[in-house]
Amino acid sequence: MTAPVPEGGDSLSIRPARRADLLAIVRIENASFSQPWPHDAFETFLGEPGFLVAVDETRTIVGYIVSDVTPNYGRNLGHVKDIAVHPDHRESGVGSALLTRALSVLGAYNADSIKLEVRPSNESARRLYRSFGFDPLRRVPGYYDDDEDAIVMIYELR
Ligand SMILES: CC(C)(COP(=O)(O)OP(=O)(O)OC[C@H]1O[C@@H](n2cnc3c(N)ncnc32)[C@H](O)[C@@H]1OP(=O)(O)O)[C@@H](O)C(=O)NCCC(=O)NCCS
Repeated sequence: MTAPVPEGGDSLSIRPARRADLLAIVRIENASFSQPWPHDAFETFLGEPGFLVAVDETRTIVGYIVSDVTPNYGRNLGHVKDIAVHPDHRESGVGSALLTRALSVLGAYNADSIKLEVRPSNESARRLYRSFGFDPLRRVPGYYDDDEDAIVMIYELR
């Protein structure tokens, strides 16, 4: 079901990703990252409730988020694995709308906390996460393929 969301304008919808969306998702991924996920990586998350796309009024995919929940030492750990918005559609609330919906889905699937990794150099993403209440937890040296560190950020739901 596609439900309208207030963020990102009245014309934006957030819904679960489908196989037919993968090409558009991969195009946005390639335009967004120096080391993009391949098509197959997205395919494995089809059917995951936290794999969502943002669709505009022309039914164009303008962004996506990949997230899931896994049991971890007696707690359910949510993880935002990937999020990107098409370069032409950034800074109009699409990323916030995707994150809002993903946090709600992960909460509904009993996540106790949600973590993500972000590059220290990715200031817009870090600002977005901080505005949602994610706190920096630790730094992982050389986490990315190009050897940049990751900052692990965490959001506690309960
Ligand atoms: C990070 C990313 C997903 C954010 O998506 P986005 O759609 O631009 O996010 P939003 O529009 O919700 O918020 C971004 C900014 O736009 C501002 N904004 C939101 N709605 C706005 C509007 N209607 N008008 C003007 N500005 C607006 C927000 O306040 C925010 O400002 P800030 O950077 O000063 O905090 C996007 O920049 C992206 O795809 N980056 C490349 C991939 C990437 O780095 N992903 C994260 C990996 S960890």
